[in-house]
Amino acid sequence: MAAFEEIEGKAQELFRSYGYTEIRTPIFESKDLFVRSVGSDTDIVSKEMYVFKDKKGRELTLRPEATASVVRAWLENNLGADGGVSRLFYIGPMFRHERPQAGRYRQFHQLGCEILGAGTIEADVELIDLTMRLLQTLAIDGQLKINHIGGDEDKRRLADAIRSQAAGMIDDFCSDCRDRLDRNALRLLDCKNPKCRTLVEERILPSLPQSDSPEFVQLKKGLTELQIPFLVEPRLVRGLDYYTGTVFEVTSDMLGAQDALLGGGRYDNLVSELGGPSTPAVGFALGLDRLATLLIESDRDYRPHAPFFFVIGLGEAPRIKASRFAQLMRRAFETRTLSEGGAHRRIDLELQGRSLRSALKQADKLESQYAVIIGDEELERGTVVLRDMTGGNQVDVEIGEMSEHSVIRAAIDDGIRELVEARKTGQTVKE
Ligand code: HAM
Repeated sequence: MAAFEEIEGKAQELFRSYGYTEIRTPIFESKDLFVRSVGSDTDIVSKEMYVFKDKKGRELTLRPEATASVVRAWLENNLGADGGVSRLFYIGPMFRHERPQAGRYRQFHQLGCEILGAGTIEADVELIDLTMRLLQTLAIDGQLKINHIGGDEDKRRLADAIRSQAAGMIDDFCSDCRDRLDRNALRLLDCKNPKCRTLVEERILPSLPQSDSPEFVQLKKGLTELQIPFLVEPRLVRGLDYYTGTVFEVTSDMLGAQDALLGGGRYDNLVSELGGPSTPAVGFALGLDRLATLLIESDRDYRPHAPFFFVIGLGEAPRIKASRFAQLMRRAFETRTLSEGGAHRRIDLELQGRSLRSALKQADKLESQYAVIIGDEELERGTVVLRDMTGGNQVDVEIGEMSEHSVIRAAIDDGIRELVEARKTGQTVKE
């Protein structure tokens, strides 16, 4: 969860700085939505969807991806009414009934962005820049691969060319490819079977026309101008039918067989195919689980923050006071840190009614910086014992509201050590 939180936190901040707002769509949709968008001949729709019937016999699907849902919601809620560009991001679980293996789960999590209403290549470049910046912010390396698959007519021509090339040697391909030849010939290009890869490399690709469309030239120019390294990958066709034009993926060689960290591309026909006005669009989705794996494998320290204060009450009445003290501390830190943009300090209250010895042991184990101890005597005097857990020095501090605040202020400025030292030597420090 700490890795997820790091990714989500940094992504949200970055996405907002590029003008995105969040959209949340339901995790189930009508099955028909994905049949019409992702495509009935794709693996996702033909093999991997969780489909079930509701009480009225309607076929519903746990969403295998979110682009179709975003477009549906965008249309239903008239989000494009102002005719401007909609930049939307989402984070959430997706479901695909695939064979589970490392990096491939039946419930996984995506974080994605969609730009609706922008038809220029600069939108594609901006989106790719955003993905690469996100990885950079997280100190993760990825290899950007791009391709251009053209519109529906181009895709049909490409599929025909693949079909006629492969026809004479189809028995040499794997059974998946043989199945795909008629329905989804483009996918022969990205089959991972080593034998198919060689056939594609040596016999199919050389005979296919290279994409030299002006959009692809402009895309490469844009990426070069923004100093984003890329590799043109003619095999890259993506597994969803809605793409037109730019397609891209970022892979990591730290990931093993499931090496795609993120993928996306342009889908200029999807909005109209789902019943809306002709609207160009481009987007990507990133596999959160895969990215989290990379973060966990890097040398990050995901241990929880140690407490700043471990507050201990000894006996019934002191324990109530200790609760109050912890409450005031938390409030004071909150006011201070919120107004100054600092991080919250963790304040733990002893909740098991332990003895002093065992409570201090616990504070030590948690690596708390200070223990705050309230016993009957302190209660009577209106003080607390403030114990520096590193050196073991301790002083009495008054707990009137003001002095509580001044203690905290001093603590935040790391002045509490100074305070402890000063009290020891009988000096006064500014409070
Ligand atoms: P996708 O390539 O199917 O694209 O998925 C995007 C990413 O989700 C993959 O690169 C991978 O990291 C992750 N992913 C996919 N399946 C699994 C799985 N079973 N287990 C773990 N991670 C997985 C899409 O979904 C498109 N909607 C992307 C898009 C947005 N295109 C335009 N806009």
